[in-house]
Amino acid sequence: MSKYDVLFEPMMLKNVELKNRIAMAPMNCCFTAPGHIVSEQQMAYYAARAMGGAGLIIIEAVGGSDHETIKTYEVHNNLMLVYPYQMSGLAELAETIHTHGAKTIIQISPGPGRQGSSSGTGIQPVAPSPIAYQFQPDKLPKNGVEILTKVAELMGPDHPITETPREIRVDELEALAHDVGESARLARIAGFDGVELHAPHGYLIHEFLSPRSNKRTDEYGGSMENRARFMCDCVRSMRAGVGDDYLLTVRISADEHMDDGFHVEDTIEFCKMAIQAGADGIHLSDGSYEAAKYFLPDTDGQVVEESAQIKKGLEEALGRDIPVICPSVHNPDLAAESMAAGKMDIISQGRALIADPEWPNKVREGRVKDIVKCTRCLKGCIGRFLIGLPSRCLVNPEMGQEKYIEKYNTRPVLPLKERAWQMISEV
Ligand SMILES: Cc1cc2nc3c(=O)[nH]c(=O)nc-3n(C[C@H](O)[C@H](O)[C@H](O)COP(=O)(O)O)c2cc1C
Repeated sequence: MSKYDVLFEPMMLKNVELKNRIAMAPMNCCFTAPGHIVSEQQMAYYAARAMGGAGLIIIEAVGGSDHETIKTYEVHNNLMLVYPYQMSGLAELAETIHTHGAKTIIQISPGPGRQGSSSGTGIQPVAPSPIAYQFQPDKLPKNGVEILTKVAELMGPDHPITETPREIRVDELEALAHDVGESARLARIAGFDGVELHAPHGYLIHEFLSPRSNKRTDEYGGSMENRARFMCDCVRSMRAGVGDDYLLTVRISADEHMDDGFHVEDTIEFCKMAIQAGADGIHLSDGSYEAAKYFLPDTDGQVVEESAQIKKGLEEALGRDIPVICPSVHNPDLAAESMAAGKMDIISQGRALIADPEWPNKVREGRVKDIVKCTRCLKGCIGRFLIGLPSRCLVNPEMGQEKYIEKYNTRPVLPLKERAWQMISEV
């Protein structure tokens, strides 16, 4: 018996059997190939984390529409899942992850909102209301000022980091909600075990939830129900796309950490609405680019207490246990204690798995001292991402170069019959 056993108890997430309670958090590391398709590097990067023992791999935010408003993502070089040809690499990716013993869900986004950029496309970002976001110097992570200064310098005055968006129209919202449903349908055909709606971190859905960025007077603004309308429309559309027997989670920031933003009590209400609209579980995060030290925390376990509060609040509100995924608990002792106390059902590890893909295997084998710890410096991962460069890691020289490492490029070959009929036989 080990105190870490609680992290390795199998569980059912809806109808998906997970071998443990450790997920890889979604992270776009700018590895995507031209055409918004999966690159060789991306394949090897995910394979490394599946081989490292995570039970669930959550694929980074994927554009779920080819609508003009989503093209402002361009600078971050996101994957897209809109056209059938974009399914092929993703199908191979899901299959690769499966052969390494993990399950996988894919995060689908209706767009970056005002956190998009006209850089590279000339298209003005959109938002609920024409208000630009502003970095708050006191809410930046420890290296935030240094990183942003460098980013601004490299991008140049023609590519401002924040731009004033235009107000998105209702017909555009309807088109986006429709499209994420279609994208979810393709994800299921491609062989993923589930889909996740991307609603945190100050991106488009978050901007609708927030009274700070949503000043609309139509049916998408004002009351909490109105502010949650776009999120719920996306959930309903995705549910219709995948059917009732398929896993669907929503990722949402636990608290906006801005005085005039939304807070944990509101998030419980938003999560309740998302579940009632058809979601099966909640994947938490925190903050936004405005309150970036909550989205990319300097301290360990920052979301744990919010997770406990939201899990309890949801159970009280809905009269049943709702699975909650909590991010950023890099310390295995804290992870095990919080899990044992019922504060979450799964932990999602982001930078901890960038620094050391073997984190789960090392904890399971009692080799905690061998873990290469993330220093939360943000320089190689998000710092490079902000200008569209492929991520690296200051403590893991292999990160970003997995495709050159043989062990990450090999996988067990499935029996021909299984391989040939996999996926479409499940749909
Ligand atoms: C390079 C990078 C890219 C990220 N991309 C995404 C993303 O595509 N979707 C998302 O929901 N969160 C994204 N995140 C946030 C992570 O999923 C995670 O919540 C955050 O890094 C905090 O957890 P950690 O301390 O374990 O890294 C990203 C984080 C990093 C560092």
